[in-house]
Amino acid sequence: MDFKDVMIQRRSVNFFDPEKDVPDPLLREMIELGSKAPSGFNLQPWSLMVLKDRASKEKLLKLAWNQTKIVEAPVVMIVLADRENWMEGHPTVERNFKEMAASGAEIEEQRSWILEAAKKLYGSSEERKIAFACKNTGFFAMSLMLAAKSLGLDTHPMDGFDIDGTKEAFNIPDRFWIPLLLAVGYFNPEAVLEAPKWRKSYDDIVVSFP
Ligand SMILES: Cc1cc2nc3c(=O)[nH]c(=O)nc-3n(C[C@H](O)[C@H](O)[C@H](O)COP(=O)(O)O)c2cc1C
Repeated sequence: MDFKDVMIQRRSVNFFDPEKDVPDPLLREMIELGSKAPSGFNLQPWSLMVLKDRASKEKLLKLAWNQTKIVEAPVVMIVLADRENWMEGHPTVERNFKEMAASGAEIEEQRSWILEAAKKLYGSSEERKIAFACKNTGFFAMSLMLAAKSLGLDTHPMDGFDIDGTKEAFNIPDRFWIPLLLAVGYFNPEAVLEAPKWRKSYDDIVVSFP
C-alpha cells in the first residue's frame, strides 16, 4: 500500500471482526515495523503487553469504560512507557551503549555525557519523566498503527481507561506509565465505518507568537 494511502486509510475502527484472528507472524511483523520509530538517544522506552485471551480482555474491559472493542478485537495491547528508561544501569540504557560500541562508536567518551544530558532532560522532575516516556512511546504507538494498516490490519487507540487500576490488575511495575491501549484486528465487514473526522488545516496548525 502506498504510504499516502496508509495515512489516509488508517482509522480508529470501533467494530472488529471477532471471528478473524491476527496470525502471530503478522503481529510480530507489525511490532517490528513499528519499532522503527525514532526516540531520544535511541532509548526506546516502550514495551507492550499483548492480550489475546478472553479472560485478560474481560478484566481490561471493566477498567476501560466497557469499550466493547476490547473484547471484540483479537488482540489488545497495553502500551507501556518506562519513566526510568534513561537511568544508568537500566537494562535498555546499558544495551544501547553496548550496541553503540558494537557499531564502532567511541562510547567511553560519550557515555557520561549522554547519561548526564539524559538526567537533565528527562529526570529533573516527575513531569519530565512522564513526558520523556510518553512522547517517545507516542511515536512508537503511531508507528504501530501505520505499520498495522500497511499490513492490512486495523487498530483503535484508547486512553479511556483507569491507569492505576490497570497497573494493579496486570502487575505492571510502578516505573511504567500507560499512555494508551491499542486494539488490533480486522474491521468488522458488517459494521459501517464513520465518516472521516475533521482535521485542523495548515493555517490552523502553523502559528506564530509575535
Ligand atoms: C491517545 C488516543 C486516545 C484515544 N482514546 C479513545 C478512547 O478511549 N475511545 C475511543 O472511542 N476513541 C479513542 N481515540 C480515538 C479518537 O477518537 C480518534 O483517533 C479521532 O476521533 C480521529 O479518528 P480517526 O482515528 O478515525 O482518524 C483515541 C485516540 C488517541 C490517539
